[in-house]
Amino acid sequence: MIQRNVYAAMDAAELSSSVSDHFAHRWSDYDRQIRQAIPSYDFVLDLLVDIVRRGSSPPMSIVDAGIGTGQLAARLLTAFPEARLIGIDIVPDYLELAAQRLECYSQRVALIEGDLATLELPDGADLYVTSFALHHMTDATKQKVYRQMHAGLRADGVIVNVDFVDSPSRYYSSLFDQMRIELMRAEGMSVAEIDDRYVRHRQLEIPTSLVRQMGWLDSIGCCDVECFWKYLNLAMFGGRKRSW
Ligand SMILES: C[S@@+](CC[C@H](N)C(=O)[O-])C[C@H]1O[C@@H](n2cnc3c(N)ncnc32)[C@H](O)[C@@H]1O
Repeated sequence: MIQRNVYAAMDAAELSSSVSDHFAHRWSDYDRQIRQAIPSYDFVLDLLVDIVRRGSSPPMSIVDAGIGTGQLAARLLTAFPEARLIGIDIVPDYLELAAQRLECYSQRVALIEGDLATLELPDGADLYVTSFALHHMTDATKQKVYRQMHAGLRADGVIVNVDFVDSPSRYYSSLFDQMRIELMRAEGMSVAEIDDRYVRHRQLEIPTSLVRQMGWLDSIGCCDVECFWKYLNLAMFGGRKRSW
């Protein structure tokens, strides 16, 4: 049985009820929907694991911030059989699905229900990952979360984020949206589904540009800040905590 702790409910100012509703309504069919909506979803999660695997030593302590149904966590627990993982999410139904998916790793997993924006994030991690979870936060909150992740890392620990990113160019921002919509149509999503899951969802997003977020990682004390992958308005990037 996976240990599960519940912390303070969401910060209403940060995670508006429409955003939490957006996530809460989608948990049951999430695994299918995310693959339709995010091109290369499996590829990018596998790439993240591969990049971490090639680091100097395997992570022993991992935090997955916004764990969802545990797709990334399962990959990490398989790739690093000695690692312990803490998964955090604000939606209890997602945590339930993550608990089911990760049951076979139960001795190595703890789940926390809470809001990343207000929670005190765990210490002593070798790896902080977050995938498609921060794009509803304001810049100030994203920076606070990055700072906390960095503070919670051991020296040489790594932060990796995969998320929607804003384009500084209005032209490319709109082109990327158009291309994402075409990809979703090709994946079999109806116009109504795309409107519900992408177009309206975009109005709830507060994406931040890749360059800006990489700059924040640099300024809070990360080295080796790098973009590992970018495709249209999606990117994976991260950095390593300087050992000074
Ligand atoms: C699009 S899903 C991604 C889930 C998972 N990381 C993945 O890659 O499949 C975003 C997840 O982040 C969680 N989330 C969003 N904002 C959050 C917050 N402020 N605190 C904790 N979890 C949050 C949502 O509940 C949801 O499970």
